[in-house]
Amino acid sequence: MNSKVPSLCGVYKEYFPIGTIVNDELVSKDSELITKHFNSITPENELKLNKIHPDKDTFIFEEADKLVDFGRRNNMLVRGHVLVWHDHSPEWFFTNDKGEKVSREIVLGRLQEYINLVVKHFGNNIYCWDVVNEAIADDNTFYRPSKWLETIGEEFIEKAFIFAHEANPDIKLYYNDYNAEMGEKGDKVYSLIKGLLSRDVPVHGVGIQGHYDIVFHKPEALKSMIERYADLGIKLQITEMDVSVFGFDDRNNTLQRPTTELLERQAEFYEKAFEIFREYKSVIEGVTIWGVTDRYTWKDDFPVNGRKDWPLLFDESGEPKAAFNSIVSF
Ligand code: XIL
Repeated sequence: MNSKVPSLCGVYKEYFPIGTIVNDELVSKDSELITKHFNSITPENELKLNKIHPDKDTFIFEEADKLVDFGRRNNMLVRGHVLVWHDHSPEWFFTNDKGEKVSREIVLGRLQEYINLVVKHFGNNIYCWDVVNEAIADDNTFYRPSKWLETIGEEFIEKAFIFAHEANPDIKLYYNDYNAEMGEKGDKVYSLIKGLLSRDVPVHGVGIQGHYDIVFHKPEALKSMIERYADLGIKLQITEMDVSVFGFDDRNNTLQRPTTELLERQAEFYEKAFEIFREYKSVIEGVTIWGVTDRYTWKDDFPVNGRKDWPLLFDESGEPKAAFNSIVSF
């Protein structure tokens, strides 16, 4: 490892923790990079409902325990992601043994039991949880359709926060979403949060996922939203940042290597975004990047399978990219 490269979280010590995701493979292959540059981690998939409780009688904590333990051993903060999401929610949660739909009360009871068990299992080793993920619709309706909404109704959101708070009042509870800072969707997320706060629901922060690309997104859009949330007295985290070199609709691109021009535009994006994060350090409680090196990124399979992307701070061989340099020199 190049000792001349400054530690990213060291550079940001006076600002906010800098996080990355972890999974089994990342911890075994990239642990040097992870421990040098990041002081916060988020298990990528291991805390999701279908991983922990795939069947009515099965609980799997081992994978997540290993990762949380890795964080503890290295003095890192650990973010919990996620308790309630339309995705990664197994069918059994909403049905009986015959496969028939169960009542609202049963689903609500299962949710309470699940949240209570998981939040207590990890205790204060997980300092904050994304309690509800992506509950707001992208189109002109308000809530995103989901089994949760269908069976429990919109109350599933506040109930989840209340259950998590009851299970452990010490931890910070976040609502997490993408494009939560932009346009009409941003307005809806904002009014959801405002409504929850006005009813004294224990929500402590908003997670802006931060899955950006250099074509569609503009870092400047972050500013006004950060200010609106700051006025509500609520904290923010950037929870899943990456910056794709492709537009969302550019699905057939077969580029084999990123061009210098694309990498420079990406670096500019990171630079501007981090400038804004630093400016609002009193509101921003943390910034997490959704990956370590470009060797492994979920963007290789999203929005299409097999289109290689390079959205992160380190290249495929673990060397810092222009994007990294742009956020450590200011
Ligand atoms: C992604 C993971 O990175 C992938 O490995 C998995 O196959 C799907 O989920 N928003 C979220 C994250 O809140 O949980 C998603 O993570 C990325 C989008």
